[in-house]
Amino acid sequence: MAQIYSRILATGSALPERVLTNADLEKFVDTSDEWIRERTGIRQRHVAAEGETTGDLSTLAAQRALDAAGVKASELDLIILGTTTPDIIFPSTACLVQHRLGANGCAAFDVNAACSGFVYALGVADKFIRSGQSKKVLVMGAETLTRMINWEERETAVLFGDGAGAVVLEASREPGIYATCLHADGGHKELLYNPVGVSVGFKDEPNHGVRIRMSGREVFKVAVKTLDSLVEETLAAAGMQASQLDWLIPHQANLRIIEATAKRLNMSMDQVIVTVDKHANTSAGSVPLALDYAVRSGKVKRGQNLLLEAFGGGFTWASALLRY
Ligand code: ACO
Repeated sequence: MAQIYSRILATGSALPERVLTNADLEKFVDTSDEWIRERTGIRQRHVAAEGETTGDLSTLAAQRALDAAGVKASELDLIILGTTTPDIIFPSTACLVQHRLGANGCAAFDVNAACSGFVYALGVADKFIRSGQSKKVLVMGAETLTRMINWEERETAVLFGDGAGAVVLEASREPGIYATCLHADGGHKELLYNPVGVSVGFKDEPNHGVRIRMSGREVFKVAVKTLDSLVEETLAAAGMQASQLDWLIPHQANLRIIEATAKRLNMSMDQVIVTVDKHANTSAGSVPLALDYAVRSGKVKRGQNLLLEAFGGGFTWASALLRY
């Protein structure tokens, strides 16, 4: 029997209206535009309005992807959302989005893999399609990470933003996703986490708010090293050489991490999609936001080979090599 591939039919994304620039941040955090740009590449981020949720942004991104694909929500047989900032504890935000789109009845669930959430979700969706279980799948990555920020804490306040991205996948005889690689190592929890609990109890430590804890320098080092081996593994899994790649679409956490991965692949920065300057780190939203930007701006064209990769809390790391 001929191989079944998961093919991206179309992409969509959504960003909150409010933009917070580095200059705006300077007014209430002890930081500078220069420090933020030099260390991270970030110039601004979008911040969700009060009451604007991950589900709201996901629904908008999904509708845009469905419209671009010419697919009705009722045709979907699976919905997966990568997020670490769900609207509520349950139902899953994927279920909330499913109902708002009018896709009731199909399977729907969230994947929590922090910044790797979208690429994890893509990997899972690919398995459903390859196995013949699903034909049309909506995969999203979305966050309202600024809800977890203590705006007085400069180490993290300057890094994150909100946003959502989505793709519609279809079972196809044409490639398609060639390979996905998913990994985790729970041994590094203390370097990047949010301790606010459900099962451990709802209380955060006093006076800290619901905030992210990150040892930036250590995370940076592990991320660069891990992504180096991840891209090698992904190329080998797809049976391809780095020279066959047209675009790198990386997780948008830090421009220096992105540049290190591009260098490893011998790719010029002209072949790398960069949105960290405009979106900052939107965690699971970052890769699909960058992909949608790349498609809609006409940079990425049909038939080109794309390498998607992400690294985040867990630690988790994941990649997908596909023909668009
Ligand atoms: N403004 C001004 N100064 C600052 C700021 C700020 N916003 N933040 C830190 N500093 C200071 C520090 O206090 C330190 O001062 P010192 O030298 O006097 O002690 C100095 O700047 C350098 O701090 P470092 O933390 O060593 O800076 P570094 O170059 O490592 O950059 C950063 C920090 C941007 C966080 C970087 O380490 C990074 O990007 N790490 C990886 C983040 C990441 O990829 N996370 C994974 C995904 S997130 C997720 O999964 C939710």
